[in-house]
Amino acid sequence: MNQSKSFLQISSSEALDLRDLLILAQSYKSGSINENFKGSGKTGAFLFFEPSTRTRMSFEIAANRLGLRVVNLEGSKGTSLEKGETLLDTVLNVAAMKPDFLVIRCGDELDLKAVQSKLRIPVLNAGWGKVEHPSQALLDVFTLQEKWGDLKGKRILILGDSRYSRVVGSHVELARKLGYEIKYFGPSEVLREASDFKSLSQALEWADAVMALRMQKERHQDRVDYSSQFSLSPATLKHLKPEGWILHPGPMNYGVEVFDGILDEPRSLILTQVENGVYVRMAMMAKVLKEL
Ligand code: CP
Repeated sequence: MNQSKSFLQISSSEALDLRDLLILAQSYKSGSINENFKGSGKTGAFLFFEPSTRTRMSFEIAANRLGLRVVNLEGSKGTSLEKGETLLDTVLNVAAMKPDFLVIRCGDELDLKAVQSKLRIPVLNAGWGKVEHPSQALLDVFTLQEKWGDLKGKRILILGDSRYSRVVGSHVELARKLGYEIKYFGPSEVLREASDFKSLSQALEWADAVMALRMQKERHQDRVDYSSQFSLSPATLKHLKPEGWILHPGPMNYGVEVFDGILDEPRSLILTQVENGVYVRMAMMAKVLKEL
């Protein structure tokens, strides 16, 4: 199948298409479009081989709002993965049952591009190893667009484990397409590239928004001392502009990258990100289905 019908990576999407998708998501949120695929009988098979709360639930709620049917496979328990079946065979067998599209979360051991090339139905990436997490990056941008209108020229500080983060993989591409700037700060062992900053206060003073990230301990063995010099706290947040926004894709580790009152901080958009994830995923599924 033509990969353009799938949604695997930001790099394989046109900026114009991504802007269209964000406009569609906004229409769903405002209620100006009320699309329903119920009569179409379309079914999505959701294969979550890695744990998820936000992405899985919001894809499912999004599918419900669009009137789609969903079948789920979560983890390996109770599946033939426990009998040694491979991830690839699992995907191929589910696809053979002819759902209309797949939503897949997986580790690096599955190559979603190679999977897609074997299938005749679209695949939506719901978080792929260290590679990309396009729906998360798009919902981040959608959330900031609600505040700023346009992200062109805006400065986003990515704080923490940017090296192993698939969300950052998508933001690098999205920043290029939409014209925002990304810089990094955090422990040197887990930085995607060397930081321009000597301290968190300097980094926060540069930023229009800060995105804190969890240490991706499941993706590397490095022992990293995550000290308070890398943590968002009431003291460090004094260096962020009064109108500087705070994001986190979740899940958060309190006392590590963020303090435990972060959700009550007026500049936090963290739960708005989660709310908006539903509209962005509705738009992703609707666009893919309309191209079938
Ligand atoms: N942001 C994110 O992907 O969260 P989950 O792992 O809970 O889906």
